[in-house]
Amino acid sequence: MSDEKEVALITGAGRGIGLATTQRLLEDGFHVVMVDLHPEPLMSNADRLRTASNSLEHHVLSVTDRAAVSALIASLPRLDVLVNNAAIFWDGKFDAATEDDFRKMYEVNVVGSFIMAQECTKIMKRGGRIINIASRAYLAGYAHAPYITSKAGTVGLSRGMAIDLAAKGISVNVIAPGLIETEMFRSLTPERQQELIAKQPTREVGQPEDIANGVSFFASPRTRNVTGQILTLDGGRSMGISLY
Ligand SMILES: NC(=O)c1ccc[n+]([C@@H]2O[C@H](COP(=O)([O-])OP(=O)(O)OC[C@H]3O[C@@H](n4cnc5c(N)ncnc54)[C@H](O)[C@@H]3O)[C@@H](O)[C@H]2O)c1
Repeated sequence: MSDEKEVALITGAGRGIGLATTQRLLEDGFHVVMVDLHPEPLMSNADRLRTASNSLEHHVLSVTDRAAVSALIASLPRLDVLVNNAAIFWDGKFDAATEDDFRKMYEVNVVGSFIMAQECTKIMKRGGRIINIASRAYLAGYAHAPYITSKAGTVGLSRGMAIDLAAKGISVNVIAPGLIETEMFRSLTPERQQELIAKQPTREVGQPEDIANGVSFFASPRTRNVTGQILTLDGGRSMGISLY
C-alpha cells in the first residue's frame, strides 16, 4: 500500500453497488479495502480488479463481528473513507414478517454500520468521510417494513453521527438509492420487478455505477463542509409515483 494514497474501506464490496463503488474509487485514486461476508464473488472480483495501477485488498468478514472488524482496522496504516454499503433485504407483506426477519435486518443493516463506524473512527483523522448507503425506501413503501425500518435507522444513525463527529472533522453523509439493477433487485419475482419499474417516473431501473458516482462525490476530499446530508439517487421516485 502506497503511503500517499488515501484509503477507502467498502463493505458489501463483493458484488452489486459495493463492487461498482470499488471500481469507481480505484479510478479516483484510492487504495481500496474490500470487505464482504461471502468469499465469492469477492475474491474473484478482487483478483480481476487487481492490476499494476490498482491498489486494493479484500477481507472476508461480517460487519456484525466486532472482533474481526477491530482486527482489520488495527492492521490498516490509515483510513480516510468508510462506505457502509453491506445490507440484507426482505420483501413481503407486513403480517408475513417474523420477529426473526426484523431482528436480522436491523442487526446487519444498522448495528453492522454502527460497529464499522465506531471501529473506523478510532483511526480516522480530521478530514475523514463516512458514507452510509440507505435506500429511498426509508421514506416508506409497501411490503418490506423490516427493510424500511432498517434504512430509516441508517438515516437516523447517520444524522446522529454527523453531529457527534463534526467537531472531530469527520463528515457523515447518506446516499439513498432507488431501484438499482443488482442481485438484490433480481431476487424479486419478474412481476414484482415490473410493478416497481412501472412506478418509476423514468420507467427505468438505475445501475450500480449511478450510485458509485454519488459515493465518489462524498468520498472526495474536495467535498468539504458537507455533512449530515442525504443524496437521493432514485430516478425521481421520491417525488411520487408516476401515473402516466
Ligand atoms: N439494489 C437496489 O435496488 C437497492 C436500492 C436501495 C438501496 N440499496 C442498498 O444498496 C446497498 C447495496 O445493495 P446491492 O443491491 O448491491 O446488494 P447486494 O445484495 O447485491 O450486495 C450486498 C453485499 O453485501 C454483503 N453482505 C451482506 N451481509 C453482510 C455482512 N453481514 N457483512 C459483510 N457483507 C455483507 C453481501 O454478501 C453482498 O455481497 C445496500 O445497502 C442496499 O440496501 C439497494
